[in-house]
Parts: sequence; structure tokens; C-alpha cells
Amino acid sequence: MSEEEELRAWVEVDLGAIINNIRALRRLIGKETKLLAVVKANAYGHGALGVARAALYAGADYLGVSTVAEGQKLRLGGVEAPILILGYVAPAEAERAVANSLTTAIFSPHLAEALNTAAGGMQTKAKVHIKVDTGMGRLGLWPDEVLDFYQYLRGLANLEVEGIFTHLATADDPDPKGARWQLGQFSDLMAVLSAAGAQVPLVHAANSAAVLTYPESWYTMVRPGLAIYGLLRNELAALEPAMSLKCRVAQVRPVPAGRGISYGWTYRTDKNTNIAVLPVGYADGFSRLLSNKAKVLIRGKAYPIVGKITMDYCMADVGDDPIQEGDEAVLIGRQGEQAITAGDLAAALGTISYEVVCMIGPRVPRIFINAPPDFPCLDSPNELGYR
Ligand SMILES: Cc1ncc(COP(=O)(O)O)c(C=O)c1O
Repeated sequence: MSEEEELRAWVEVDLGAIINNIRALRRLIGKETKLLAVVKANAYGHGALGVARAALYAGADYLGVSTVAEGQKLRLGGVEAPILILGYVAPAEAERAVANSLTTAIFSPHLAEALNTAAGGMQTKAKVHIKVDTGMGRLGLWPDEVLDFYQYLRGLANLEVEGIFTHLATADDPDPKGARWQLGQFSDLMAVLSAAGAQVPLVHAANSAAVLTYPESWYTMVRPGLAIYGLLRNELAALEPAMSLKCRVAQVRPVPAGRGISYGWTYRTDKNTNIAVLPVGYADGFSRLLSNKAKVLIRGKAYPIVGKITMDYCMADVGDDPIQEGDEAVLIGRQGEQAITAGDLAAALGTISYEVVCMIGPRVPRIFINAPPDFPCLDSPNELGYR
């Protein structure tokens, strides 16, 4: 019995696709520019450890996470590559960040002091990247605050200012004005720092959309997330989606005309039909807002998800087709000629594909497929589910 046959529902993550996507980005940016693979939020729901290993195998230089816990999890999984925490770290977490050799974004003297003390206690240096807000309107220092902060950081003996970065708010907007303005702010700041004699090796600004659209945003490192998961369509790089959400049909039941299906009877059969019950619900991250909107692929054909999606199940009207208990059903991904993308679900939900893939819950095991033969395995490969 293969692993999937034992499972009710699972996410299949195509490591070959992740590797190809990173190599496609690498071809675009060249060898000199470093590549930080963003694997925060459990690698956008794909499974952080498997994706991190694939990214490093494909030549990524750095990994990006959101929290100390995410970074520590990678370290516990045996990842030795540099890891940058892109966002907020509470001063109380400084020791854990340093002990796990996690580089931190920095914009606050409180964290700087805590990191400096923690690193001093461990006779090491804490690496930091200054986070500059050139217009995102989220975390960071305004450009005119950066020179003073840099000089202050240089005064802390146990800190190493390895990088400086900013994040673009509108890189995926067809109108380039916003991104160009932010990049202009950032470049002006880099000129000020350089005139003051600052030397910061890693300078970065580019998310996926910027990697593909604005070569001037590459500086010395790029920070793609979405593109490595194949969730950004672009003619410059052939990127393939890596994630599929699959399950087995739990039961197929004949239902007479005029019956209501699921809570609230929001769907009624208009003829005698068959309802396939699928063991995926909103507790798995398949949003209830997709009720009567999503589709499922079974035996190469698309069927509507009907009635309210419940916590653990959803239903599809499969008509008179010979669908059987145990058939593989695809809620995201390809089957035969048909495909349902995270973007399709995002459109139905009125959101973005990022949220669709991040929502898929921890209850759904991630199965990694298409690992190259020389792909590095853990001591217990089952933990990652390689095949
Ligand atoms: C600071 C930072 N850099 C890079 C990324 C990657 O962005 P994308 O997934 O659009 O490539 C993110 C994601 O939100 C981020 O927050």
C-alpha cells in the first residue's frame, strides 16, 4: 500500500517543481546575486523543512522565516544554512535567536541591546539586517532614521550588521510608479550610507514580483517566496505550482431529487444523483466560504462542491458518473487534462493565492514527491514523507 492509500487527505509537494523554480530564478538573476528563499509560515503551507532542503539543494544561499520558532524548527531539522528572521523578534527571544544562529531583522534598540547581551554571553556575534520602511507602512525605520541607527549598532560590540533591506508594497502592480519610488528611496539611502563609509554586504529588496519585474531591485540578494512555490505566472521564468491538495472519496451515496445537502440545506438536488463525500473540511483549511463555489477533480472530470463545507467534510455532486469510494480526488492541482489552481480558489474567495496555501492546516500531512535521487534525507525520512 502506498503512503497516500493509507491517508484520508494529504498535500503533495513536488520538490522537483520547487527545485526547478529556484533554478529558473537563479538563471534570471545570475550567479553573483544571492538568493534567500522565503520559507516562513511553514513554507507558505508547503512544509518548511522539505522546502528548505529543496531550496538549498537548488542553490539558495539563505532562508527567510517569520519567527524564532520557525527558524529553530529548521535548525532542529538539521538545516545549517543562514536563516534570517524577516520580522519582529521580542527582546525576550534574543537568546534563543542567537543560540540557534538566527540572523534577525533589526529596527529597535530594545532588541539590539538584548541581542548584544545574549551574543556577549555566548561569546559570539549576533548577525542583524536593518529593516527599512521605504513605503510599505509596516515594520522598520524610515530612511532618514537609518544612518544614526547604523552608527549606534556599530557601537555594540557583539552585533554584526550583515545586511539592510526593505519590502515593496506594490511590486505586483502593473503600474510601476510605487515600486520605482520605493526603490529610489532605498537607493538614495544606500548612497547616504556609502558616503558615510558604511559597509553592509547584503542589500535586498526584491520579493517575487520584483525579481521578475525590476532588475534594479536585486542589489546583492533577492527574497522570493511565491515564485518558488510556482504561484506566480510569468513569461520570464517557467514556474510550476508545487502544491496539490488531495483526498480519497470517503463514500458515494445515491440521493433522490429534492434533498438538501449539508448544514442549512443550501444545495438541493434537482434530480436523482450521487453525492461523493470528501474527507476535507474547513478544519483542514478548505474554507467554508468556498461552499457551493469550489470544484473537485475525480477520474479526470470536474464536479461542483455542493452544500456547506463542514469542519471535516465537503460534498460533490457527481451525477451518474461511476465514482467510487477510495477514488483520488483533487481539490488543488492537476488530474489528467484538468487543473484547479490556488489562484482559482483565491478568486472564488476574493483573496490571494498566498492565503489559500497558507490556510491548509497542520492536520493534513505533507507528502514530498519528485525528490531527486541524491536529495539529502533526514535520519527518519518518513518524517518528511519522501518518495
Ligand atoms: C519581508 C518579506 N520579504 C519577502 C517576501 C516574499 O514575498 P513573495 O512571496 O511575494 O515573493 C515576503 C512575503 O510576504 C516578506 O514579508
